[in-house]
Amino acid sequence: MFQLKNKIALVTGAKQGMGRTHAFALAEQGAKVVVTDINQDECAAVVEEIKSKGGEAACFKMDVSNEAEVDQVFDKVVKQFGRLDILVNNAGIYFSKLALELTEEDWDKMININLKGQFLCAKRAAKEMVKNKWGRIINISSVASGQVGVGIAGGAHYTASKGGIIGMSETLAVEWAPFGINVNVIAPGAIDTPMVQAAQIPKEAMDAMLQRVPLKRIGKPEEVSAMVVFLASEEASYVTGATFYVDGGWLAV
Ligand SMILES: NC(=O)c1ccc[n+]([C@@H]2O[C@H](COP(=O)([O-])OP(=O)(O)OC[C@H]3O[C@@H](n4cnc5c(N)ncnc54)[C@H](O)[C@@H]3O)[C@@H](O)[C@H]2O)c1
Repeated sequence: MFQLKNKIALVTGAKQGMGRTHAFALAEQGAKVVVTDINQDECAAVVEEIKSKGGEAACFKMDVSNEAEVDQVFDKVVKQFGRLDILVNNAGIYFSKLALELTEEDWDKMININLKGQFLCAKRAAKEMVKNKWGRIINISSVASGQVGVGIAGGAHYTASKGGIIGMSETLAVEWAPFGINVNVIAPGAIDTPMVQAAQIPKEAMDAMLQRVPLKRIGKPEEVSAMVVFLASEEASYVTGATFYVDGGWLAV
């Protein structure tokens, strides 16, 4: 099960953190993986690591918020690999600012990368996927996306972007089901990545948060990648428009 041999997968924001482990996990299942991010050199290092383990991969610099660049990169991918089967919309940013201090520029930056970026990549990917009547789009949201009681002080812009992803994905799943494209969302809880490290959450606050998580620990990026592999696979054929929380049980409390 979960074999991805001969599938072409593109991961955004894949030079570090969860995007990097998603790229490794897809390659391990046999997919040819296109590693994209804002820094070409760091993507190239991920490609080398995949190749050293016997996998196949290529890298491209791609800013997900720039439509012209997205279109160019997808064109190159299709030229090189012939098609696209799997998109993992993982790229994202987080910076903390209380709502009363948020500027229009802050708001636009967050929404452009976290939400518009996912739409631009999904739209371009779907144009390829319809050709084969098969596709898997996996959009990364967060437990901090609304409806589940996880508001974060300093994260109004982030939670808005992550909530938007869920609504957008449900609609794309409905629109693209006739074309064989399944669109799903993964909403991780607290996962140990450079993003969380950069947020410099005080130890006491982090400990208090993790105490509320039934599994009593932060998640590993690979634990989210396992869900990516499932949703990318043939075995997820009857799964679309859904959101999967990978959160150590946080929302069960
Ligand atoms: N770490 C967590 O606890 C957590 C929890 C819930 C959701 N998430 C989400 O998971 C995803 C991955 O996060 P992570 O924790 O691995 O963070 P990370 O900061 O380690 O990785 C994010 C990657 O996105 C890239 N990126 C940023 N702007 C970009 C742009 N304009 N175009 C292309 N790439 C861009 C960065 O360069 C980076 O490599 C993000 O969407 C994040 O919001 C993370």
